[in-house]
Amino acid sequence: MGLSPFSLSFFLILFHFHSTLSSSSPPPLCAHHQSLSLLQFKQSFSIQPNRWKDQYTQYPKTESWKEGTDCCFWDGVTCDLHSGLVTGLDLSSSMLHGTLHSNNSLFSLHHLRKLDLSDNDFSISLISSRFGQFSNLTHLNLSLSSFEGQVPSEISHLSKLVSLDLSWNSYPSLEPISFDKIVRNLTKLRELDLSYVNMPLVVPGSLMNLSSSLSSLRLQGCRLQGKLPSSMGKLKHLRYLDLGSNSFTGSIPYDFEQLTELVSLDLSGNAYLSAEPVSLYKIVQNLTKLRELDLGSVDMSLVAPNSLTNMSSSLSSLSLGDCGLQGKFPGNIFLLPNLETLSLSDNEGLTGSFPSSNLSNVLSELDLSYTRISLYLENDLISNLKSLRVMRLCNSSIIRPDLALLGNLTNLTSLDLTDNNFSGQIPSSFENLVHLYYLDLSNNNFSGQIPSFLFALPSLQYLDLHSNNLRGNIGEFQHDSLYSLDLSNNNLHGTIPSSIFKQEYLEVLILASNSKLTGEISSSICKSKFLRVLDLSYNSLSGSTPLCLGNFSNSLSVLHLGMNNLQGTMPSTFSKYNSLQYLNLGGNELEGKISPSIINCTMLEVLHLGNNKIEDTFPYFLEALSELQILILQSNKLQGSVNGPPAYDSAFSKLQIFDISNNNFSGPLPTRYFNGLEAMMTSDHNMIYMEIRYYTQIVFSIQNTWKGLETEFEKIQNTIRVLDLSDNSFTGEIPKVIGKLKALQQLNLSHNSLTGHIQSSLGNLTNLESLDLSSNLLTGRIPMQLGGLKFLTVLNLSHNQLEGPIPAGEPFINFNANSFEGNLRLCGFPVLKECYRDGDQEQSLLPSSYNEGDDSTLFGDGFGWKVMAMGYGCGFVLGVAMGYIVFRTKKPAWFHRMIEDTWKLNRRKTRKKVGRRN
Ligand SMILES: *[C@@H]1O[C@H](CO)[C@@H](O)[C@H](O)[C@H]1NC(C)=O
Ligand SMILES: *[C@@H]1O[C@H](CO)[C@@H](O)[C@H](O)[C@H]1NC(C)=O
Ligand SMILES: *[C@@H]1O[C@H](CO)[C@@H](O)[C@H](O)[C@H]1NC(C)=O
Ligand SMILES: *[C@@H]1O[C@H](CO)[C@@H](O)[C@H](O)[C@H]1NC(C)=O
Ligand SMILES: *[C@@H]1O[C@H](CO)[C@@H](O)[C@H](O)[C@H]1NC(C)=O
Ligand SMILES: *[C@@H]1O[C@H](CO)[C@@H](O)[C@H](O)[C@H]1NC(C)=O
Ligand SMILES: *[C@@H]1O[C@H](CO)[C@@H](O)[C@H](O)[C@H]1NC(C)=O
Repeated sequence: MGLSPFSLSFFLILFHFHSTLSSSSPPPLCAHHQSLSLLQFKQSFSIQPNRWKDQYTQYPKTESWKEGTDCCFWDGVTCDLHSGLVTGLDLSSSMLHGTLHSNNSLFSLHHLRKLDLSDNDFSISLISSRFGQFSNLTHLNLSLSSFEGQVPSEISHLSKLVSLDLSWNSYPSLEPISFDKIVRNLTKLRELDLSYVNMPLVVPGSLMNLSSSLSSLRLQGCRLQGKLPSSMGKLKHLRYLDLGSNSFTGSIPYDFEQLTELVSLDLSGNAYLSAEPVSLYKIVQNLTKLRELDLGSVDMSLVAPNSLTNMSSSLSSLSLGDCGLQGKFPGNIFLLPNLETLSLSDNEGLTGSFPSSNLSNVLSELDLSYTRISLYLENDLISNLKSLRVMRLCNSSIIRPDLALLGNLTNLTSLDLTDNNFSGQIPSSFENLVHLYYLDLSNNNFSGQIPSFLFALPSLQYLDLHSNNLRGNIGEFQHDSLYSLDLSNNNLHGTIPSSIFKQEYLEVLILASNSKLTGEISSSICKSKFLRVLDLSYNSLSGSTPLCLGNFSNSLSVLHLGMNNLQGTMPSTFSKYNSLQYLNLGGNELEGKISPSIINCTMLEVLHLGNNKIEDTFPYFLEALSELQILILQSNKLQGSVNGPPAYDSAFSKLQIFDISNNNFSGPLPTRYFNGLEAMMTSDHNMIYMEIRYYTQIVFSIQNTWKGLETEFEKIQNTIRVLDLSDNSFTGEIPKVIGKLKALQQLNLSHNSLTGHIQSSLGNLTNLESLDLSSNLLTGRIPMQLGGLKFLTVLNLSHNQLEGPIPAGEPFINFNANSFEGNLRLCGFPVLKECYRDGDQEQSLLPSSYNEGDDSTLFGDGFGWKVMAMGYGCGFVLGVAMGYIVFRTKKPAWFHRMIEDTWKLNRRKTRKKVGRRN
C-alpha cells in the first residue's frame, strides 16, 4: 500500500489539525510495510546491556517500538516528512544482541540515508553484502558491534557515502581489491574509519586514491605495512588522521607539513616508524591547528626534545610514550594553556622538571612513568592539578613525596604509583578518591593494613597492591565492580573474603604468596564465569578443591593453586572447550589419581602436579595434550613402567621440561619417548619467551640452586630444556638415543638402578649445563666425549662403579672430587689418585671421604631446578616464592594504550550521547 503525495499532505494537514485540537491519535505518517519491517527487525534481537558500560550510555531504543503506533515517532527512527518513508535509523548503543542475517527485514528499508547500528552486539554476524543496496545511504556506522568476516566489496556501491565507520569490530578483514573499489568509488567520502579492520595486504600508496575532500581518516590497528606515501600532503582537508598501531616503516614523510588543517594526528604504535628531526620540526611549526598529537612508540631517538618547543598553543593532548627521547624536555610544553593529556612515559633518558604552578587548569591525564622528569609533590602542585583524572607516576622521580596530598585530587579515576619504593601506610586521605576505578600501588613498600575504605570504593574495577608489606585480613568488598584484583606477595592472612566471589565480572584474581591465607576455596568461585587468571598459590589454603574448578569459566587460562595444603583429589571435570594453558596444583596434599578429564584441556602448555600424594601409574593419556611444554609430576607416589608404546606419533613433541623425579617408576627408561621429544632435539635460538596467550604474557623462568646460590634468570627463553627422571627405580642401561636430545641443558638420571656404561652419545648433548648420573650402578669408564661438553658446569657421577681415568678436557678442570666420589676405581685429577698406565692399580693419595669445602648443596638434592612464571606489568600480574615464581616487569606499552583507548572510547561515546540529547 503506497501513499499518493496528495493523500499524504492531506494526512499531514489532518495530523496538524488534530494535534492542535489535542484530540484522538492521528493516522500514521509511517508506511505500513516499513513499520512491519522495523518490528521484524526488533524481534530478531534480544536486549542485553553491555556489562562494560555504565547504564547511562546505553538505552534500548527498540523497546519503544509498538505495533499500532506511528513508526516515524519511534526512538531512533527518522522519516521523510513528505513521503513518510524511513530515511534514518539510529540504533547506536541500543543493547541489541543477536545475529544480523542477510535476510533481515532491515534490508527492505531501501530509502535509508543514515544508518547507525554502532555499539551493539551482533557477534558472529557477517557484514552482509546487502548493505550495498542502500543506494541513497550517506552515513553508515557499524562500529563497535562485533561484526566479523570479510567486508563485502559491495560497500563500494554506496557512492553517496559521506561517512563510513566499520571500526572496532571483531577484526573483520578487507581485501585490497575491495579497499581499492571503496576508495575509488566513494568520491564524496569525508569520514572513513576502518580501525581494526584487518587489511595487511593493502598497499599504503592506495590511500592516495581517497577522495581529496576527506577530512577524517582513521586506520588504527589495520596491520598496514610498508612506507607511508610521500604525498600524503594531497589530502589537504584532513583534520583527523589516525594511522596508529600498524607496521609502517621508514620515517614520517616530509610533506606532512602540508596537512595544515590537521587537528589530530596519531601515528602511535608503529614501532618501526621513525621521526626525523627535520620533519618533526616542520610538523611542530606548520600544524598550528593541532590539538592532539600521539607519536607513542615511534622512534624519536634522533630528535632533540627541545625541537618540540614551539608546539601549537591549541594542543590539548600530547603522547610521546616510549619514543626513545633523551635529554631535557622543554618546560614550556607543560604550561600549554589547553593541555588536557600529557604522556611521556617510558622515555628513561628524559629529564627536566614538572612545574608546580601555572599549569593549565584543564590537565586531566598525566603520565610521567619511567622518565626522569622530577616532580615536587607539594601543596602548590596539588592545587594546580585539581582537574586531574588520570595520574601515572610509575617509577618516576617524585621529590618530597607527601603522598597524602594526592587525596585532594578528588576527580582521579585512575592512579598508578607502582614501582616507587613508597613506604608507610596507604594514606587515609585516599578515602576521598571516590571516583577511582583503577588503583595500582604495587611494587612499593606500603605497610600496615589495607585501609577499609579501599574496599568501599564504589567504582573500583582494578586494584593492584602486589609486592608490598601489607598485613592483616583482606576486608569485604562493598561493591561488585571488580574486574582485576592482585594482592599477592604481601603478608596478608585470614580467609579469602566471600565478597570476592560475588564479583560477577572478575577476570583476574591473584592472592598468591601471602603464605598465611587460610581456609577453604569457596565453591562460590564457581559463579565467576569470566575468570581468566586464578592464582592463589603459596598460601595455607586447605580443604578440597571446588568441584567446579575445571568447568566454571571457559575463559580460565591460568589456574595456579600450587603450594597450599589442599587435600582430596584433583579436579576431575575439565570441560571440553576450556582455555586452560597453565595448571599448577603442585605442592599440595592431593591424593587419588590424575584425572583423565585433563585431556579436555587441549590448550594446556604447563601441567604441574608435583609434590603431592598422587597414587597412580604413568598418565599415558597426557600424550594427547599436543601443546604441552612443561610436565612436572615429581615427588608423588607414581609407579610402574613409563615405557609403554606411545599412542600418538608426536607424543610430547613440544615438551621442554619433563620431570617425573622422586616417584616409584620402574623398568627401563622411557626410551620410546626419547625418540619423540622433538623440542628437546632442537635448540630454539630465536629467544621467544614462552607465554600464555590472550591474557598477558606469562613467561616461564627457572631458578637454580647451584652452588648454594640462588640464581634467578629474569627471563628464561624458549631455550630451556630439562629431563629429570631421578629418584625412581629405573633399571637397565642408558639408551643410546638419549644422544638425540641435543638441546637438553639439564639431565638428571641419578638415584636409580641404572646399569651398564655411560653412553658416549651423551657427548652429543652439547648444550648440557648440568649432568647428574649419581647413585646408580653404572660401570666402565667415563667416555672421553664428555670432555667436549663446554657448557657443563655441574657434573655428578658419584656413587657408581666407574673406573679408569677421568677424562681431560675443559669442563673437567672445574669439578672437584665430590663429582666422582664413591667410585673407588676412578683415577686422575681431581680425585687425586694417580692413574697407572694399565688403569687398574691406582693408588689413593687421599682418603675417599675427602671433601673439599662444603659443597653439599651442589649435589645434595641433585640440581634442584625450579620453574617460575612471569607476569607482565608495571605491576601487572602474578605472584612469587620458591619453586614456581612469577616475575613482573613493566606493563608493556600496549597495555597503556589499551586502557587509554578504552577510556577515549567511553569518552567519545559519552560526548556523542550528550550531543544527541541536546
Ligand atoms: C534516492 O534519492 C533520490 C533523490 O533524492 C530519489 O529520487 C530516489 O527515489 C531515492 N531512492 C531511494 C531508493 O530512496
Ligand atoms: C560505483 O558506484 C556506482 C553508483 O554510483 C555503481 O553503479 C558502481 O557499481 C560502483 N562501482 C564499483 C566498482 O563499486
Ligand atoms: C611549513 O613551515 C615552513 C617554515 O617552517 C615554511 O617554509 C613552509 O612553507 C611551510 N609549509 C607549509 C605547507 O605551510
Ligand atoms: C588538601 O585537603 C586538605 C583536607 O581536605 C586541606 O586542608 C588542604 O588545604 C588541601 N590541600 C590542597 C593543596 O588542596
Ligand atoms: C571534577 O569533575 C567534575 C565532573 O566532571 C567537574 O565538573 C569538575 O569541574 C572537576 N573538578 C575540577 C577541579 O576540575
Ligand atoms: C570432556 O568434556 C566433555 C563435556 O564437557 C565431557 O562430557 C567429557 O567426559 C570430558 N572428557 C573427559 C575425558 O573427561
Ligand atoms: C652423535 O653425533 C655423531 C656425530 O655427529 C653421530 O654420528 C651420532 O649418530 C650421534 N649419536 C646420536 C645418538 O645422536
